[in-house]
Amino acid sequence: MSQPESSESFDQLAALATERFKWQWDEVLIADQPYRLAVAADPEGMLIEACERQDAGEEGVIDPFWATTWRAASGLDRYLDRIVLDDVPVLELGCGTGHAGIAAVLRGARATLTDGVDDPLLLVRMSVLNLSQQNQAKCNVQRLRFGIDKIETKFPVILGSDVTYLRTLWPELDHCLRDHLADGGEVLLSDPYRIIANEFRGWIQDRGWHYVEHKIDLADDPEHPIRVMRLTSLK
Ligand SMILES: C[S@@+](CC[C@H](N)C(=O)[O-])C[C@H]1O[C@@H](n2cnc3c(N)ncnc32)[C@H](O)[C@@H]1O
Repeated sequence: MSQPESSESFDQLAALATERFKWQWDEVLIADQPYRLAVAADPEGMLIEACERQDAGEEGVIDPFWATTWRAASGLDRYLDRIVLDDVPVLELGCGTGHAGIAAVLRGARATLTDGVDDPLLLVRMSVLNLSQQNQAKCNVQRLRFGIDKIETKFPVILGSDVTYLRTLWPELDHCLRDHLADGGEVLLSDPYRIIANEFRGWIQDRGWHYVEHKIDLADDPEHPIRVMRLTSLK
């Protein structure tokens, strides 16, 4: 497979990522096109190591849930076929490996891909280099922690794939959505019909969001569809 064009910056990113963890290229479909996504090579091993360090009493160890690309991202990618994204500013929250944000860019959007931790952003920066130069210029990658960091821009579309899995994250996520959603904008959150996300559905509606749900079938496993929650502000 060919090397991305901006090889100097790619080499720097690859060296930084390699210092932190094992990674590899995965060949995936994004926006119906074959795409090379940089991913962690051993997500399970990383999760076990994080759990062991937590069990040993180490503080501040963050679960590396970013290390897997979740099916919810493919469902959100598929849903994006239904909306017009040409030149639309899109914010992706908790992007992990960045599948959904890159899907938006391949459909014409200008995307800001964000995560609360830096490690996945190294991978996303490498993956973005596989876009055309024109599309690379439409991507911005930066750290954004729900409820803590703020970008001084509002976005008409906010994406989040599998970011509702922890109850403790919900208030910060709600805060972050309010900080960044433009008037009349829409939030699209996907999940694999997790039980906890059923609870989130009620919780978020009680906080003044209008809620509509869409079911997305995926060809790899039609028996396990992905849910896309579309939130718009009631105010
Ligand atoms: C289950 S993973 C989903 C990753 C990616 N969206 C996907 O679908 O493959 C959840 C993501 O949310 C990020 N995350 C967790 N807590 C966060 C926070 N407080 N602020 C920002 N991102 C956070 C994690 O680092 C991780 O990348």
